[in-house]
Amino acid sequence: MGQQGEFKVTPWTVEGLVDYEKLMRDFGTEPLTPQLKDRFVRLAGEDHLLIRRGIFFSHRDLDRVLDDYEAGRGFFLYTGRGPSGPMTLGHIIPFYFTKWLQDRFRCNVYIELTDDEKFLEESRNLTIEDVRKWSFENALDIAAVGFNPDRTFIFQDMEYVRNMYPMVLKIAKKVNFSWVRAVFGFDMSTNIGMIFYPAFQICVTFFEKRRCLIPAAIDQDPYWRIQRDIAESFGYYKTAAIHCKFLPPLTGPSGKMSASQPESAIYLNEDEKSIRRKIFQAFSGGQPTVEEHRRLGGNPDVDVPYQWLHFFFEEDDEKLRRIREEYSSGRMLSGEIKEILVEKVTGFLEKHNTRREDAREKLSLMKYEGRLAKEMWSKTIE
Ligand code: TYM
Repeated sequence: MGQQGEFKVTPWTVEGLVDYEKLMRDFGTEPLTPQLKDRFVRLAGEDHLLIRRGIFFSHRDLDRVLDDYEAGRGFFLYTGRGPSGPMTLGHIIPFYFTKWLQDRFRCNVYIELTDDEKFLEESRNLTIEDVRKWSFENALDIAAVGFNPDRTFIFQDMEYVRNMYPMVLKIAKKVNFSWVRAVFGFDMSTNIGMIFYPAFQICVTFFEKRRCLIPAAIDQDPYWRIQRDIAESFGYYKTAAIHCKFLPPLTGPSGKMSASQPESAIYLNEDEKSIRRKIFQAFSGGQPTVEEHRRLGGNPDVDVPYQWLHFFFEEDDEKLRRIREEYSSGRMLSGEIKEILVEKVTGFLEKHNTRREDAREKLSLMKYEGRLAKEMWSKTIE
């Protein structure tokens, strides 16, 4: 990395400045065209900021999902989280979008907490106890998003493995080492747990005999590529997916926020003081002095606080347009954009964390009872 134009995206790392057009070509995904967006929004009955702003930008078979919906066959949603530590604002965004999809299309949602994956990732150095603890903590954040408890199942691989294992084995038997090596870049030193793990992440796409739609950032797409090559041999649908971009790190526009670089990210449990400090240190598109800034204007296209407002935090298109104009012309200073973002982020987190506390009780129902999943499962899996 390091050289201009070079970047790398895998389910475990994002490095460099991501060229999303190139990534779509490399991964073989389709762009979310204006026509498809229109159809999607029409069927959803309302627009969503993440669609309108192009943050969800790519897909696989979204058109087929919409055909199924119109034909009354329906579809289900699947997303997940690797419980390696506290969640960041980047991690939670796909969950808010998934909830919106659940509400608009009245779907079941399955949420996989991959405690196994995060234990196996050697660079993380986490114990079984650590990943269990983070599963619970992260599940509280996910529950705070407000999914419909009657249509949502959150589970941890280490707990739910019994129900998944027969299907996991069927998947594992169809995927050899050279295939996962090519897709994920494994090598001879990769532990055998990591080599087997993709079968778990794929398995959830077979929880129902309907088409599965996966909302996630594009880093998770390599799993879906394998799934799509084997699904029909089991009599299931190839999974569909809708991919978002990465909320850029505060430290600069390239890569993704990373738990190993706390300054790059804002965690959901961070207090206002620390949020303010991080945002005020964020990578800015402003000029070095106020005089120069007034004269030359700022560059919103590289300014991370502006990018965050555009990505998710300023819902009002007209306000965003005004901020862009004022900033580019030099009338608005970097500090002022930062102040707007601090207010938006703290407001968002305040609401999120209130719901997180309310979710504790609901969560134990969703997580431990497993009633809904058992019913769904028995209808679909032998
Ligand atoms: P994890 O925990 O790395 O990420 C959780 C979700 O957040 C997305 N994501 C981001 N989205 C926007 N901006 C960012 N900066 C950003 N960073 C991460 C991820 O794409 C993901 O949607 N192996 C998975 C867990 C998993 C999963 C799934 C995820 C299991 N099954 C199905 C999505 C769909 C993981 O470790 O995710």
